[in-house]
Amino acid sequence: MSTLKILVIPGSLRTGSLNAKLAAVAAYEFAQAGVEVTRISLGDFPLPLYDGDLQAKSGVPKNAVNLKRMIGAHHGVLIVTPEYNSSVPPLVKNTIDWVTRVQDTQETRGQVFRNRAFAIAAASESRLGGSRALAALRLVLTACHATVIPNQLALSFAAEAYDDMDRLKHPADIEALGTLVRQLIDVSQRMM
Ligand SMILES: Cc1cc2nc3c(=O)[nH]c(=O)nc-3n(C[C@H](O)[C@H](O)[C@H](O)COP(=O)(O)O)c2cc1C
Repeated sequence: MSTLKILVIPGSLRTGSLNAKLAAVAAYEFAQAGVEVTRISLGDFPLPLYDGDLQAKSGVPKNAVNLKRMIGAHHGVLIVTPEYNSSVPPLVKNTIDWVTRVQDTQETRGQVFRNRAFAIAAASESRLGGSRALAALRLVLTACHATVIPNQLALSFAAEAYDDMDRLKHPADIEALGTLVRQLIDVSQRMM
């Protein structure tokens, strides 16, 4: 069996992002579990706001095609999203929207969502930890026929959740992340 590959996508570009920190901690946990992990920044895949006229005129941007192929090169994907006004931020939704428009040869559109496992996590300074963004993101991914693992992590009071080395400091958060990591590995392995 080939090495399991997991892609970690932080849904924020902000300097000091609480979600980027969580993505980094998760990537470390995947590596510790013996998985080949890739952590990207969506800043390396800039995309215009989705516009059907733009797609009709210029096609799907190369960055969406590249990101879709990056997803396709991994067995499982973790998306770590901020919560904006009780939902997913435009960066995350716009990226998913463009990726769903990619049509590679020998594939049906959106196939990349259907044949691998997804996990979702969020970090927020609030008590709810971005759980409404997770509900929205789960809905979007499920509508794309993705397998989204049942476990998720909503990191509450995230500004206080990291130590000075940017590691999670609360045992309950460490345990929740560990459970998420193990379940994504398990489901991704079964879908290989
Ligand atoms: C437009 C906007 C809307 C926001 N709405 C929410 C919200 O509904 N719930 C929440 O917990 N935090 C909300 N926040 C605060 C973000 O969770 C916080 O800025 C967080 O640090 C963003 O993620 P990042 O640190 O990864 O960039 C909002 C922030 C912005 C800019």
